[in-house]
Amino acid sequence: MKNKADLKKITCLGAGYVGGPTMAVMADRCNSIEITIVDLNQSKVDLWNSEDLSNLPVFEPGLASIIKKVRGKNLFFSSDIQKAISEADIIFISVNTPTKTSGYGAGFASDLKWVESSARTIANFATGHTIVVEKSTVPVKTAEVIKTILNYNQNYDAKKSFSILSNPEFLAEGTAINDLENPDRVLIGGNDSDAIESLSLIYEHWVSKEKIIKTNLWSSELSKLAANAFLAQRISSINAIGAICESTGANVREVKLAIGSDKRIGERFLNAGPGFGGSCFQKDLLNMVYLSKYYGLNEVANYWEQVLILNNWQKSRISKLVVDKLFGTLNGKKIAILGFAFKANTNDTRESSAIKITKELLTEGAEIVIHDPKVTKDQIKKDLEKNEGKDPKQKESNSFWWFSKDYEEIFKNSDAIIILTEWEEYKTLNWKFYTNLMRKPSWIFDSRSIVNPKEMKNLGIKLWRIGDGTLD
Ligand code: UDX
Ligand code: UDX
Repeated sequence: MKNKADLKKITCLGAGYVGGPTMAVMADRCNSIEITIVDLNQSKVDLWNSEDLSNLPVFEPGLASIIKKVRGKNLFFSSDIQKAISEADIIFISVNTPTKTSGYGAGFASDLKWVESSARTIANFATGHTIVVEKSTVPVKTAEVIKTILNYNQNYDAKKSFSILSNPEFLAEGTAINDLENPDRVLIGGNDSDAIESLSLIYEHWVSKEKIIKTNLWSSELSKLAANAFLAQRISSINAIGAICESTGANVREVKLAIGSDKRIGERFLNAGPGFGGSCFQKDLLNMVYLSKYYGLNEVANYWEQVLILNNWQKSRISKLVVDKLFGTLNGKKIAILGFAFKANTNDTRESSAIKITKELLTEGAEIVIHDPKVTKDQIKKDLEKNEGKDPKQKESNSFWWFSKDYEEIFKNSDAIIILTEWEEYKTLNWKFYTNLMRKPSWIFDSRSIVNPKEMKNLGIKLWRIGDGTLD
């Protein structure tokens, strides 16, 4: 077996939101290690390799400049999976693990087909001793699946051996580079102390030893689910309080300040909003619910499921109140959605509240114009599935949507503006100029606390702001 410090070649399976930024930062901090990211999707690999850095498959502040520095030096993007696996000392699995849509556990359990096929490919092509690292968010006990597939192979080929580790990602999109460069902690779970040490040494290039937490495999897998469940629970908690604020005359931003200044609670991650989105929170909560039910812990399952129920309610609550404020009908009305990404500074729309809210408004007969600085029209088309068409004559039904980046076109004759993502450019819009183009009475629905209520009042705009019971 190789010396722990001699591990020179890393391969990552999956060039997505996790694999891309994680390996870019690792390559930047570990100049002596060669990293290859492989992906089944050739066009994605081509985009990562493209000269045009403004068009990387993942938009993440700071990512392009790191890619520019390390790509072709010690970071490579490729679709030659066999070669990359056979040469690797360490392999990270960063493929996607969506929620199952059919069969046992549908709607709750994660579909592990990509993780499983990754393990089989590794079993086929690996040579010598290989450390396999589970990076994707996975249900507890997934390492067992990987282990079984790899060990079966190992038994029949004495030249191959494997160690399996869990090393969950804790990066949040939009701040991924900083999260990776200055992590609160790095978590490594496993039973093979040599393998744990090897992976730890890689992180120690830029992370202090005290921040590297070593646990058994199952604690590591569960900690990832638990961390996201706690974070998601905070959002549902503040959104629940926001709803009470609106009914009672309190203001959720004041309540946030008051409760967040208690150090035990803390001020971060307490912004009321249109409900959480992203690829992880919902999936991890569903996994938690599934796991709890599997072990007969029904009260535990119900507890975590309620966080999700509240989140879905929050999204529908917003679409319903838009309809209510606009006299109960959206027929013949033009509504503008500002922000389609699930949060600012990402082009990711997975589980974005904007999807559900837009779909619900479309069923009410609205004409919807959508703006987002980074999400493409094609992505929105995939998410909304239908009803596109700018010309009412071409539309399939009463309601339809179209995409625009032209604020004048967006605001002109709109009845309402709904802010769903907290993009910086919305904060600095010339609201006076644009709202003047709207139809009267003009409404702004601000689910991200971006606009200034006093300014809106002076402009004669009717404002609904999340968690603000002081407005009528
Ligand atoms: C993630 C994470 O790893 C997980 O923690 C999170 O919960 C959701 O999925 P992410 O990087 O966000 O991954 O997903 P995505 O951007 O979809 O990237 C996955 C990539 O893996 C895709 O580019 C896909 O083409 C690739 N892939 C998938 C493979 O190369 N091989 C496969 O077998 C399956
Ligand atoms: C999350 C976790 O934060 C990260 O550690 C994990 O590895 C992956 O999942 P991500 O989903 O990328 O990261 O973004 P995050 O910043 O957690 O936001 C998730 C959702 O919660 C977004 O829709 C966001 O708008 C919402 N949110 C977040 C709020 O509504 N209010 C807040 O105060 C914070």
